[in-house]
This record gives sequence, C-alpha cells and structure tokens, in this order.
Amino acid sequence: MPAEPVPAIEIVRTRAELQPAIARHLAAKRGPGTPALGLVPTMGALHAGHRALAEAAAAENDVVVASVFVNPLQFGDATDLERYPRTLDADAALLAEAGVDLVFAPDVEEMYPGGEPEVRVVAGPLAQKWEGASRPGHFDGVCTVVSKLLHLAMPGGFDGARAAYRAYFGQKDAQQVAVVRRMVRDLDFPVEVVAVPIVRDADGLALSSRNRFLSEEERDAALVLSRALKLLEDRASAHEPLNPDDAEALVRSQPLVELDYLDVVDPNTLEPLAFACRETPFTGEALAIVAAAVGPVRLIDNMPLRAR
Ligand code: PAJ
Repeated sequence: MPAEPVPAIEIVRTRAELQPAIARHLAAKRGPGTPALGLVPTMGALHAGHRALAEAAAAENDVVVASVFVNPLQFGDATDLERYPRTLDADAALLAEAGVDLVFAPDVEEMYPGGEPEVRVVAGPLAQKWEGASRPGHFDGVCTVVSKLLHLAMPGGFDGARAAYRAYFGQKDAQQVAVVRRMVRDLDFPVEVVAVPIVRDADGLALSSRNRFLSEEERDAALVLSRALKLLEDRASAHEPLNPDDAEALVRSQPLVELDYLDVVDPNTLEPLAFACRETPFTGEALAIVAAAVGPVRLIDNMPLRAR
C-alpha cells in the first residue's frame, strides 16, 4: 500500500515572520465562529509524548503552532545543554503527521538578540521546591522563554473578537505545568493552559528525550520509578493507607538508581500531604512524584492518585 502523503508544514525561523504566518493560517483554516490557535512549546528531539501534545492541540484548535527551541536559560549544566539532541528535520516530520501547521524554530541569537535577557520572569516559591531545589534558576528560565513564546504566537483579533488561545504542556513535567499555570494566572496571560497525560513505553517508563542516554541495564533499573508510583496509585484507588516509605524502599533497593525525592503532594501547591494522611485510608486526590539519577541522566516521573 502506498504511504499516506505527509501534510505540508511551514517552518519559520524569525520572530518577524511568525505573526504574519499565524494570521495567514488562521484566515485559511477559519470555519464559522471565533477561530482558535494552539501553541505547543518544545525543545525538539521529539517523541510520542510530544506527539500527544500536538495531537491534542490539533483536535481542539483550527491552527497549531509548535516551537522547537533549546532554551539555554533553563539549563544549569553546560554539558547537558551541549549534548541536548537537535533533530529538526525528524521533528518537523513528526509534527506534520500530528497535524501541526507551523513550526517556529528560532536560533539562540534570534530568541535572545545581543545575549541573555536582562529582565526575566521570577517563578516564585512554587519553583523553589522539588526540581527547583536541585536546578536553581531552572523555572525562571522556563517562565522567561514561555512568556516570550506566548507573546510571539498570540493570535490577533478577528471580526472584533479575540481568537481563542490555548497552550499545551505535558503532565510529565508536573511542576512545570503548576508553575506555568501560576504565571498565567498571576500575570494575566490571555491563554488557557492545557495539561496532557504522560505517555509511557509499554513497560511503564515515561518517555523522555533523555532516555536515549541510558544503557540497557540502566533503562531496566529505571523501571523501578514507575513501579513505585504504581504501588501508590494502587493503594490510593483501593482506599488503603499510602505509606510512601514502602515505595521509597522499593526505589532504594535498586543500586543503579540514586533517589533524589519521592513524595505525595497536593497537585496544585505541590506541598507534601500531611503526615496523618499517609497512614490512614486514602481519600480525595493527590500526586505522587519522584526524581532520581540513573547513570548519566536525571529522570522524573509522577502519577495522579485518586480514591475510587
Ligand atoms: P520539552 O522537554 O521538549 O517538552 C515539551 C513538552 O512535552 C513539555 O510540556 C513536556 O512536559 C511534554 N512531554 C515530554 N515528555 C512527555 C511525555 N512522556 N508525556 C507527555 N508529555 C511529555 O518542557 C520543555 O521542553 C521546556 O521546558 C519548554 C516548555 C519547551 C520551555 O523551554
């Protein structure tokens, strides 16, 4: 059978080209009513997790813009930045298949002309804990670039109405979603933040661009993270006490995995659940979060907990 033709995708490299291209795509795709634009920010090296974001955006909007930009401001470690995979051709093909219309792929000089910006977004207390504690300044860098992207891709008005505007983020980076939601609320960005569930490999490992740096043995060892979260998920849905120490002990039993944190938190504030809640039958909703170093990479994962 002949392969399905891959739809055309437009790639723009400069900020100046982006707004006219968005206006053109919105005018071409418009149905009746207010048009809607979806933005999917990424750093490239795309996999099925990113694809799920793009597909969700394509299902809910007339036009979808994806950005591919490896943002130096959010990397603490120069080696991590340097070795971050850059695969724009493959990324554009994946995005085209997922229904994206336009790719914004600026280089660093285009995004930060004349060097790093002097004025930045300070992400606040929500960004100090968990990932923020081991990656100082990371979420300031994320919020600064996400602000720029949200401004650059913001759709204009149509017939006196503002086009609907949605931005898509993966639940994989649960703290990033919480911090971006908080920024959008605190700074009045006219955009709806949509969170898309984690995409996993069949064996449970959460997809990540960094998984490619794991040896086979390390990849096997890393499965203990999703297993530990699953243990908590099962207890939560069965109304049992969570006793998260058991999940922690499971992770610590794997010598190739160096645990950073494992905890059960409020999904919005990311504050740990009160101690008593851990030892009594689980009710309500929470989020189990984990981070660990496995060989050369730091992995994060999380699972929503819900009593059924
Ligand atoms: P990046 O790591 O490329 O991820 C882009 C988006 O894909 C993020 O919202 C992330 O949560 C989502 N994602 C990654 N793996 C996923 C998975 N397995 N399942 C579901 N979603 C997944 O996150 C960033 O880039 C950057 O911080 C960015 C927001 C682009 C700002 O620079």
